[in-house]
Amino acid sequence: MTPLTPESRILVTGASSGIGKAVALLCNQMGATVIANGRDQARLQELKISCEHPELLHIEPRDLLEDMDSLPQWVTDLRKKYGKLCGLVCCAGFAAVIPLRAYDRNAAADIYDIHVHAPLLLTKGFADKRNNMGQGSSIVFLSSAAALAKEAGLAAYGGAKAAVQAATISLSRELAPQGLRINAVAPAMVRTPMSEKYFAMLSPESREQALAAYPLGIGTPEDVAQTITFLLGDASKWVTGQTIVMDGGRY
Ligand SMILES: NC(=O)c1ccc[n+]([C@@H]2O[C@H](COP(=O)([O-])OP(=O)(O)OC[C@H]3O[C@@H](n4cnc5c(N)ncnc54)[C@H](OP(=O)(O)O)[C@@H]3O)[C@@H](O)[C@H]2O)c1
Repeated sequence: MTPLTPESRILVTGASSGIGKAVALLCNQMGATVIANGRDQARLQELKISCEHPELLHIEPRDLLEDMDSLPQWVTDLRKKYGKLCGLVCCAGFAAVIPLRAYDRNAAADIYDIHVHAPLLLTKGFADKRNNMGQGSSIVFLSSAAALAKEAGLAAYGGAKAAVQAATISLSRELAPQGLRINAVAPAMVRTPMSEKYFAMLSPESREQALAAYPLGIGTPEDVAQTITFLLGDASKWVTGQTIVMDGGRY
C-alpha cells in the first residue's frame, strides 16, 4: 500500500466495535477510504458520524456467517461499487470459553466460521486480480495470544486462532507472486466490549489477578490498530507470513 490516500481502499470487518472500529478510525484519519463492515447498522452509522473524514467511510453491514459461500463474490461487488482494494483487515469475531464437557460441534463450527472461514473466503475474493491493486496490497488477520495460551476452555477459540496463524504462513507463499502480503496480529487482553464481557464474569479478585498478569497493563484497541496500520503500509513492505504477538509482557 502506497501512502494512504482516498485511492487506498481498505475493507475492515468488525468495524462497529473494539479493534476493528479503532482500525477503521485510524485508517480514515490517515486519509484512506474505509469500507466498514459489521452487523449493527446503528453502530456503523455512529462510526461514520464520529470519524474525521465521513466522506471516506462507507458502511457495508453484513452478517459474515450468513451465506458464507458468497463472501468472495461480495468482495467483487464491493470492488465494483468502490474501486480496487489495497487492504483487508479481518477483525470480526467473538470470544468463547468452552470447556471440554460443554464442547459442541455447532458452537465450535461458528467459532471456526467467523475466525477462520470468513477471513479465508474474504481473502479469496481480495486475491482475485480484478479486485486488488496488486503490488503493495496487504491483508491483516486477527489471531490471538489464546492460540498458544495454556489456559482452560480455549480448545475451540484458541484452535481457530492457531489456524489463523498457520493460514497466514501458507497464504504468504501463495500471494507473494502477486505482490500481496499477509500478516496477523495476536493480541492478549485488549479492552473492548468483548473483553469487558469476559471481565464481567470474573470475581473482583480474579479480575485483579488477571490484570496484574500484564506488566504493561492490558492493551487498548488503538495499540492494536497502530500495529495493523504498520502491517498495511509500505513501512512493512518486506514483511509477510508473520504473526506479531502483542501482550504487554504477559506471556
Ligand atoms: N479484545 C481482546 O482481548 C482480543 C484479544 C485477542 C484477539 N481478539 C480478536 O480481535 C478481533 C476483534 O475483537 P474485539 O475485542 O474488537 O471484539 P468486539 O469489540 O466484540 O467487536 C467484534 C466485532 O465483530 C463483529 N462481528 C461479530 N460477529 C460477526 C458476524 N457474524 N458478522 C459480521 N461481523 C461480526 C461485530 O459486529 P456487530 O457488533 O456489528 O455485530 C463487532 O464489530 C476478534 O477476532 C477477536 O477474536 C480480541
